[in-house]
Amino acid sequence: MPAMGLSTRLARLPAQLLGERPFAGTLPVEPLPVFATALLTARHFRTPLRILDYAFRGDGDLKSLDVPGFPPILFVRDPEVIRAVTLGTANGGDFDRDTLPTQGIARVVGGRTLLFAQGDAWRKHRAAAARPFGMGAVQTAEVYRDIEDAIRLAVEPQLEALAARVRESPTGSCRVRLEPHIKAVMLDVLVNVLFGAAVPHGESRGRYLPALENVIRYIMLDTVANVFRLPVFRLPTLTGRHARLKADRLVFEELVGRVLRTRSDGAGFWPLLAAGLPEEAVRSNVRVFLAGALEATASYLSWTLGNLARHPAARAAAHAEAAGHAGVTPAARESAVYLHKVLAESLRLNNALYFLPRVAVRDATVTTSKGTVIVPRGTHLVLGTYHANRSEAHWGVAATGHPATAFAPERWDAADLAARGRSPKDNLHFGFGHGPRVCIGKHFSEAEAFVCLTLFLRRFEFTAVGPAPEADSGVSTRPRDKVEVELSLRPDGP
Ligand code: HEM
Repeated sequence: MPAMGLSTRLARLPAQLLGERPFAGTLPVEPLPVFATALLTARHFRTPLRILDYAFRGDGDLKSLDVPGFPPILFVRDPEVIRAVTLGTANGGDFDRDTLPTQGIARVVGGRTLLFAQGDAWRKHRAAAARPFGMGAVQTAEVYRDIEDAIRLAVEPQLEALAARVRESPTGSCRVRLEPHIKAVMLDVLVNVLFGAAVPHGESRGRYLPALENVIRYIMLDTVANVFRLPVFRLPTLTGRHARLKADRLVFEELVGRVLRTRSDGAGFWPLLAAGLPEEAVRSNVRVFLAGALEATASYLSWTLGNLARHPAARAAAHAEAAGHAGVTPAARESAVYLHKVLAESLRLNNALYFLPRVAVRDATVTTSKGTVIVPRGTHLVLGTYHANRSEAHWGVAATGHPATAFAPERWDAADLAARGRSPKDNLHFGFGHGPRVCIGKHFSEAEAFVCLTLFLRRFEFTAVGPAPEADSGVSTRPRDKVEVELSLRPDGP
């Protein structure tokens, strides 16, 4: 049991009240002021990224918060420590995923999922999901062709609708917020490609997407504000908003049911996905895959298109590559060297998931090239990947040749990296996590991003309307401007 028991908490209390530091070792850990941090957390509870901005202000890469009576929290911005902790997660390591920050998700989707499971239950889930989501499955020519065809089916009506808007506009261009379109495409792809259901685009966009968005918004609120763990969906209806939420959850369940029914047809990844798991676990996994994957994939594509919209040279290079492929094939993806850099840089600069939660399951010593930090059992760790990736010390001009907060796909040039003596091990952006609990959807998401971006780049020219937006942060990060662009049709497009 990783949680810190009452007796340990009481035993720690005198030291906490005397202000003794919870973390030994040679790496400096700077304490955060308890009262000021609590005030700031209360003010920004809807935008957790702002809380992390506060925790990581200044030079220190390790910060601690030690509230009397509670387990300590270690905020980590040092990529070496993040790497060591993620590698030491699960599979008998000293850490596991901390389910505390995601308890709102568990209350909505069910706790028996790959996301929340630990120990043997996690291993079972992971083994069941490894093959359908693995590189081998996603990269076979046959599966890949199916994915592409279905993605085309999902994407084309969207692209056509956007193109029609541009054609009707007297100026030959129109101002569009791309994010709602991106989300609609991502949901289509998840439902119809990943799960092989046949939900028409109009229905998924008009009925299921708004319901899912409302449930996801609520998940965030529940996580931070439902301290008494009220069973919100079982309570009698209290307000109009509560009624809407309950109704939307039922619509979400309807979609989960539709997706589950395709299983018997052997469609999509099902033959491999559901292997050996009890029914409720499969159902919960489907909910997590739908809600979580929708958030993450929409964030990934939104930031990538937003970044390209602000960088004409990168957009031109990405377009030249997209236009040059004979087909949208696995081989084309392999040769899309520039797009790889664009995607890696977007995920580095704008991680969809902005921190990785961990808990120490036993007393642990984390060792890096610079020293050690000793982490007591029960400590909550906030691995601040978003802030690590934007830290000038780790990703700035001296280390990579480009400022850490700039969008610079060239940062990923293999020859340049080698000349700087940086190995891939030094260049981890943790966008899909790292170690045993790395994202299972990584290969699928990368294939999906390649197809969607290639089709979009071939057809449209697009420039950003305003300056680089701030990130909103709910379950994932989002560009606050919702990717607002001026869109026109490429004269040489399809
Ligand atoms: C661009 C899209 C995506 C991004 C950026 C992303 C990001 C991540 C990250 C950072 C983690 C690790 C969390 C941690 O270490 O605590 C993770 C885990 C996970 N992801 Fe994704 N994800 C994406 C798409 C997907 C998709 C499409 C699926 C499934 C359909 C998925 C399912 C999962 C699951 C089940 C886990 C937990 C794995 C485990 O604990 O063993 N993700 N994801």
